[in-house]
Amino acid sequence: MTQLAESFRANPNRRYIEFGGKGGLGKTTFSAATAYWLAKQGYKVLVFSVDPQASLSDIFERPIFGKGAVEIIPNLFAQEVDADQRIKAYQDQIRKKILDMYGMDQVPDEVEHYIQAAAAEPAMEESAIFDAVVDIVVGGNFDYYIYDLVPLGHALYYLSMASIYNEWIAKITKLREEMEQYSQVASIMERKGESEEDQILAELQDIRQRISTSSGILTDREKTAFYFVVTPEDMIIRDTVKAASLFAKYQVPICGYIVNRVIPHELAQQDIPAYLRNRITMQDKYLKEIDETFGKDVQARVPEFERDITGMEMIARVAGELFGGDQ
Ligand SMILES: Nc1ncnc2c1ncn2[C@@H]1O[C@H](COP(=O)(O)OP(=O)(O)O)[C@@H](O)[C@H]1O
Ligand SMILES: [Mg+2]
Repeated sequence: MTQLAESFRANPNRRYIEFGGKGGLGKTTFSAATAYWLAKQGYKVLVFSVDPQASLSDIFERPIFGKGAVEIIPNLFAQEVDADQRIKAYQDQIRKKILDMYGMDQVPDEVEHYIQAAAAEPAMEESAIFDAVVDIVVGGNFDYYIYDLVPLGHALYYLSMASIYNEWIAKITKLREEMEQYSQVASIMERKGESEEDQILAELQDIRQRISTSSGILTDREKTAFYFVVTPEDMIIRDTVKAASLFAKYQVPICGYIVNRVIPHELAQQDIPAYLRNRITMQDKYLKEIDETFGKDVQARVPEFERDITGMEMIARVAGELFGGDQ
């Protein structure tokens, strides 16, 4: 059993698992392999991604983009959020609200124009993605949630968005609450029922509740485990150190580091080309540096495989390396 497997056993409350790191290091690979390992042990697992590049579809060799949670093998579900689809759903919702509110049967051209323009805003996409993640993590249908994160910079941006959102909504909610007191007086005087203000306030409080639940879950030390994926390369080690200190600022519960793409050392005993021998020597140096830098937080080492990791057989092999034992 690897240290990673032990840390799962020792912390059964940690049901939200995240792998972070720069693009191409192995986040999706490890997310899928962890989901596989947990599912094989009888847990109901969802591995999900908001990355528009359908990488879970690739690794599981199944077209799952925008299809909700798809069962891949018993107990293992995978989901790829389609942000565009969610934006379209938002637009429909807005149209329906307008039609209902004003008793119209067609949205006026000017309004339609505005709805279209709003959908093109980058903030709209962020908000659609954010909302989708909230829906997933507050859904509560699974034993484990594995969040196949977007590359580092984006994940950081995302976390900061969550705290900015939260602050912003807190301010507005407070303002609304203050106004509410006045409007209550006003509505008593006007003998009105539930005002439109009440509805807006309720909606804001709902959004706030959802955001704090989701960012709370994702940064909760009891429930969440975040692992950095590193490779034995100079730049990657340095970037990871920097990122780790930034993530710590956002209270991300970093539980350890996993080293990927380690060239099997046995090869050095064989007759191999000089270039490969050099690479092994180089990796040795950086592996030592990784151990010195991250120490006992290094949870597992995964070898470089002879081919890309796609399909269940390869996923099972990676799981074997990540967690130890036969898969
Ligand atoms: N240990 C490994 N051996 C061989 N190929 C690997 C290994 N880890 C990852 N890969 C391959 O590297 C590529 C990037 O991995 P991926 O998990 O998609 O990275 P990320 O999600 O961090 O961008 C994929 O093609 C994957 O199959
Ligand atoms: Mg990926």
